[in-house]
Amino acid sequence: MKGSGARAQWASRLGFILAAAGSAIGLGNIWKFPYITGQNGGGAFVLVYLVCILLVGLPIMMAELHIGRRGQRDAVGCFAVLEKKRTRWRFIGWLGVCSSFLLLSFYAVVAGWSFDYVLQAASGGFQGRSAEEINALFGQLVSSPAQVVFWQGSFLVATVGIVIGGVRGGIERWSKILMPLLFLLLLLLFLRGMLSPGARAGLEFMFWPDFAKLTPTALLDALGHAFFTLSLGAATMITYGSYLDQKADLLSLSVRITLLDIMVALLAGLAIFPVVFAAGLEPNSGPGLVFQTIPIVFSTMPFGSVLAVLFFLLLSFAALSSSISMLEVSVSYLVDEKGWGRGASTLLLGGAAFVVGIPSALSFNRLAEFTPFFGQTFFDFVNALVSSYLLPLGGFFVAVYAGWFWKGSRRQDALDGGKDRPWLYPVWHVLIKYVAPGAVALVLLNQIGWFRP
Ligand code: PHE
Repeated sequence: MKGSGARAQWASRLGFILAAAGSAIGLGNIWKFPYITGQNGGGAFVLVYLVCILLVGLPIMMAELHIGRRGQRDAVGCFAVLEKKRTRWRFIGWLGVCSSFLLLSFYAVVAGWSFDYVLQAASGGFQGRSAEEINALFGQLVSSPAQVVFWQGSFLVATVGIVIGGVRGGIERWSKILMPLLFLLLLLLFLRGMLSPGARAGLEFMFWPDFAKLTPTALLDALGHAFFTLSLGAATMITYGSYLDQKADLLSLSVRITLLDIMVALLAGLAIFPVVFAAGLEPNSGPGLVFQTIPIVFSTMPFGSVLAVLFFLLLSFAALSSSISMLEVSVSYLVDEKGWGRGASTLLLGGAAFVVGIPSALSFNRLAEFTPFFGQTFFDFVNALVSSYLLPLGGFFVAVYAGWFWKGSRRQDALDGGKDRPWLYPVWHVLIKYVAPGAVALVLLNQIGWFRP
């Protein structure tokens, strides 16, 4: 194969948008966004996060799709096509392959919890229980090594099953089913939230900016999350872009993906915070917010069982359409660069992600006290390594490459598919050359403690 021959392409633009939006929308939107919003005080944080997405995330997404589409190869091969065969820039691709693989390994653990919660909700496990009992359910789940590893494995089996079908047979077809379903479910939960007595408090919390709450860390947290939530810096969008045809309008595609992603995060927040306030719970309870709080809220609501099942189904679906994009990055690398078969590559990498993820799954039980990684558990360490360092670094190098070094980027028609938008290239160029790398440099310097006294 080695990148020769006809390469698969998305069957339709809609299929691409659904698949790419499916990658972007995941645990980041529904699990992480609400809890970091809660921790960072709401409104002002949300505002900064939105600005970061538009000024940094959007131009980098366009750059990744641009690189992928021009290269028509896996994330590593793209750079060999755009530059010389042995170009050093291939390290951006390798970095992305490593990041998305590592990300998949622990993402599957959290997604596995969600699988478990679907069943717990379906069996009515949350009904008629006190808040403490429901809180304890999460502890019971994560403290059982067998249970957590079983669900982690099940999630990876589902991921492998979809990716084996290939770009058109698998990813695109499933995204067409999963994404609209996700939207419907969220809309329902959102309306439920708006009808709850906490609607006003929830809306105020999310949209009333109190800039006194905006610490420098919150500001830089928001920028970091912009990468995570848009699937940037992990070569995902390079890989998905490589299945795009040359005439695609990257601006409008990226804008649509970004808007869908923002909408889901805001909908998730607006579904969660009203019920948090109505029930008198704390918005800043941390990563447990979804798993420990939502079932409590549902347990006291009419049709709570059904809504809880819907919610965790939604979370699992969202995680699945993200995990398939993580796996696709390394699978397409083996297929395009090493000439492996898709089936074998997918099985091997899925199996490897399972093994590498086991210490993450055990970080909440057997290995909870095993913290040689800067005092963190394996899960916390890999999570921080990928989210705080590898993704922003990947995004930084993409921006530097596209803004300063890639000659082929300097074409207006490449960005807008030949539509006449003379302002587009100059605006994008300033963002990708100065604003995006500058902002990422700030995030990374903050992460390594540069700004701490
Ligand atoms: N964007 C996904 C989410 O929000 C996570 C992800 C990051 C997926 C990087 C692929 C690559 O859950």
